[in-house]
Amino acid sequence: MLKPRLSVLLFILGLACCCTGTTAAAQVAAGDWPNFGRDGSEQHYSPLTGIAVSNVEKLGLAWYFDLEPGFTVSAPVKGGDKLFTTTGHSHIRAFDAASGKLLWEFNAGVRDIAQSPLHMSWGNKGIAWWNDRVFLATTDGRVIALDDKTGQPLWHTRQFELSELRNSNGAPRVFDGKVIVGHGGADISPLRGYVTAYDALTGKQLWRFYSVPGDPSVPAANEAEKIMRATWKGDWYGKGGGGTAWNAFSYDAELNLVYLGIGNGFPYNQQLRSPGGGDNLFLASVVAVNADTGDYVWHYQVCPGEQWDCTASQDMTIATVPIDGKPRKVLMQAPKNGFFYVLDAATGEFISAEKFARVSWAERIDAKTGRPVENPGIRYQDKPGLFELWPGPQGAHSWLPQAYSERTGLVYIPVMDVGALIGAAPPDATGFTAGMGLTLIADAELPGSRRSFLKAWDPVSQRAAWSIELPGDWPGGVLATAGDLVFQGRIDGYLVAYDARSGEQVWSYKTDAPVVAPPISYSIKDKQYISVLTGNGSQGGGILATGNAAYRTDYQLPRRLLTFAIGGAAEVPAFAPPPLVPPDDPDFAPDEERVQAGAMAFATNACIVCHGTNAIGGGSAPDLRFSPAILNPDLFKAVVIDGSYKMQGMPASPTLPESVLEDIRHYLRLRAMQAPAEIATMSQPPPGTGE
Ligand code: HEC
Repeated sequence: MLKPRLSVLLFILGLACCCTGTTAAAQVAAGDWPNFGRDGSEQHYSPLTGIAVSNVEKLGLAWYFDLEPGFTVSAPVKGGDKLFTTTGHSHIRAFDAASGKLLWEFNAGVRDIAQSPLHMSWGNKGIAWWNDRVFLATTDGRVIALDDKTGQPLWHTRQFELSELRNSNGAPRVFDGKVIVGHGGADISPLRGYVTAYDALTGKQLWRFYSVPGDPSVPAANEAEKIMRATWKGDWYGKGGGGTAWNAFSYDAELNLVYLGIGNGFPYNQQLRSPGGGDNLFLASVVAVNADTGDYVWHYQVCPGEQWDCTASQDMTIATVPIDGKPRKVLMQAPKNGFFYVLDAATGEFISAEKFARVSWAERIDAKTGRPVENPGIRYQDKPGLFELWPGPQGAHSWLPQAYSERTGLVYIPVMDVGALIGAAPPDATGFTAGMGLTLIADAELPGSRRSFLKAWDPVSQRAAWSIELPGDWPGGVLATAGDLVFQGRIDGYLVAYDARSGEQVWSYKTDAPVVAPPISYSIKDKQYISVLTGNGSQGGGILATGNAAYRTDYQLPRRLLTFAIGGAAEVPAFAPPPLVPPDDPDFAPDEERVQAGAMAFATNACIVCHGTNAIGGGSAPDLRFSPAILNPDLFKAVVIDGSYKMQGMPASPTLPESVLEDIRHYLRLRAMQAPAEIATMSQPPPGTGE
């Protein structure tokens, strides 16, 4: 008797799962924003029309919440009647989405647990919501589900061990009841990158997809590994690897595919990584896998045999666009390498690619083969000296997302023109990138460099419909709405709305800090809201921030969650940025050798990642040129070696020799001496904004 009953029950449960599962994933409620890019298509597009070009001038602040300093660059998510944010190292907050009332907080305790600067050098890029749960992935490798009513953990698991040289800061996605997470670390060691899917209800691992091959002495585990192995050549195992998917995942319910955006190789120099050459799959590739099994379906590689920190980890927009007059479901990506790719979403077939930024590494993508036609001499191994590389490792587009509007058919891309100098490392080289087999000046002083744009890209004609130059070189993530508006923050503190059709600026709001995080839109009881976190941090706020040096982006600026609505009339307290004054150090006499050693140590000991290139603090951490601690050797040691500010996000470096510490301090005193002349040239607001 039991058996038939049970199967009836299972049948009913199965049906229920089917309905809530697939339809919920395919059709997110119009007023919700449950995933980083809203739904699996990663369009960063809201179908709401309450805020439109016709009434946007009445858009005002509805409510705000003051945040702590540090990393505040993630997109909020909204599910049901609540808005959720993550800041710093997985500090989660839940708000009443209409009133802004704080409901609960959950701090994942990363700073307590973290064992290396690796776990603290990047802040969280986002979280996900599904079925009354909030999902987070901590930099130290934990994946956690919280009850959205209480903030209490429902389950937690690990995607990697604390001791591994991996870190996870991208937004987890939840597609059809599966939590998809990835991680980074391919700039540091030849690890074997992977993407993992967990059951959102239980935390049980469903599948894991490896993005580079494993031990060649054992049989290949699956079809994907066979494909990969054929493209790694020579004595590579243990020396080469990478391929971490640290940012982007998309999903199409109809095709039942999850798309993985795979990153660069380690070491960058292919002669060291895979001495016999080869494409080195799946580095710098988009890979489509079966959503249920994680089995390989198709791939497309944007940089075969990559060796320039080329990644395909930028967001992948799924949409149906007219190709040769017929509607076709495509995947659109603007990866670091400066080409805008349109691929068939079902098969991966190459449709088209054109340059959307300044590019020197390749002339074009061959339409027949789908492979790049590289410019001669771009592979540095046999070439003496340094030469220009466009885009540099910052990329023509990084993780701050593009948006797509089905109404205009345009993709709105935050674009950078930042060039680098690159060359093979001489055999006796030391320094930041020498271990990678190359010399790379990532953010070089080059004419025409350190520029940024918002480009409205027509994926059919492969041309910009309009383009706007932005201040600084770290352009914010983009939101598009069915009100024909495009929202984007700027490094000079403005949140700006443009007419999606023409690029005309139709609204702006001055915040007290840079705005780089992608805004989102949601509704409660038919009222539409726009929500964004302010404050700089992460990549553009630490390393590679020199192009923003003309703007105040620093750690001292107040960070907030700002939520706007039509007729909103809330006001934040008046704020005057504290002056930037270096500590008084009249007796300092710089010693050239110690300055050089200190500058090198500042880079190789990861200080540069948070405190900025040339020690110009971009907002991830204090600007040390203005810190009294650089004149106080005891305090400096307590902070840097003993980790007295660890719980504020400053990692301890217990193995740093005191002589090296003193070199760093010496270098910082020189930078403090140079600072007044540098800040005299700062412009705020930038010329030409009309504000
Ligand atoms: C993971 C990011 C990160 C890294 C890497 C990092 N710092 Fe920090 N550092 C911070 C943060 C965040 C603070 C501010 C903590 C606070 O709010 O008190 C800080 C504070 C400091 C301070 C105190 C500044 C002041 O005025 O109070 C000094 C000095 C300092 N760091 C030096 C260094 C040096 C030297 C290195 C490299 C060995 C380094 N830091 C690496 C994030 C970092």
